[in-house]
Amino acid sequence: MSIPQLITIDGPAGSGKSTLGRLLAIRLNYLYFDTGVLYRVVTLEGLRRGENLEDETSIEDLVEQISIDVRPASKNDGRSFDVLLDGEDVTWEIRKREVDANVSVVSAYKGVRRKLTEQLRRIANRGQIVMVGRDIGTIVMPDADLKIYLDASVEVRAKRRYYELQERGENSSFEEVLESMRTRDLIDSTREIAPLEPAEDAIVVDSSSLTIEQVIEKVLGLVNGLREKSSQL
Ligand code: DC
Repeated sequence: MSIPQLITIDGPAGSGKSTLGRLLAIRLNYLYFDTGVLYRVVTLEGLRRGENLEDETSIEDLVEQISIDVRPASKNDGRSFDVLLDGEDVTWEIRKREVDANVSVVSAYKGVRRKLTEQLRRIANRGQIVMVGRDIGTIVMPDADLKIYLDASVEVRAKRRYYELQERGENSSFEEVLESMRTRDLIDSTREIAPLEPAEDAIVVDSSSLTIEQVIEKVLGLVNGLREKSSQL
């Protein structure tokens, strides 16, 4: 059995989690799974149905009514995977600003988290996976053998997100992106259930002044350290 079976990467929006997770998975030949996708799909469907997103019960019910699927990328348009909502490709739609602005509210609901956490545990238990999110090392898979908490200053994170949006042709000002990031940070880290925080045994990496290559090398060093340790047992 290869060690570690599961690598969790948690941290705030724009810390570089997705890039790290994706590239790390390629290097290790593991599956990359971005858990924020599930919360985004639920939010998108809530918006499409014109639901009142403040209505916790109807959003919880909605989770039961939809099917979310993540599959290998079927198009070469910059995506790392396909996201399907009841069979429809919503890979890019879930990245829109409207979803960004509402996803924290939806992901703070207890019932929504419980249901999505169950789905995530089933996926994580298949092994050889890099799972990225906010509460993977704390709540979803607290026994994971390697937990990374990736952080960066809010200004650096907002700048990264701003360039990402610009590349996709969405024009918001840097100030808007910074403000939305601050709001999201506040909701994510102060919510009652599964707030964003490093697990006690997580290794905290600050990516503010590191390149992605430097972050990857650091994490690969940790993976190799674990492998050496287990081979000596
Ligand atoms: O990583 P992301 O920006 O795609 O995540 C979208 C939202 O989903 C974010 O506001 C927090 C929430 N989320 C969560 O609460 N728990 C997770 N494991 C992943 C994401």
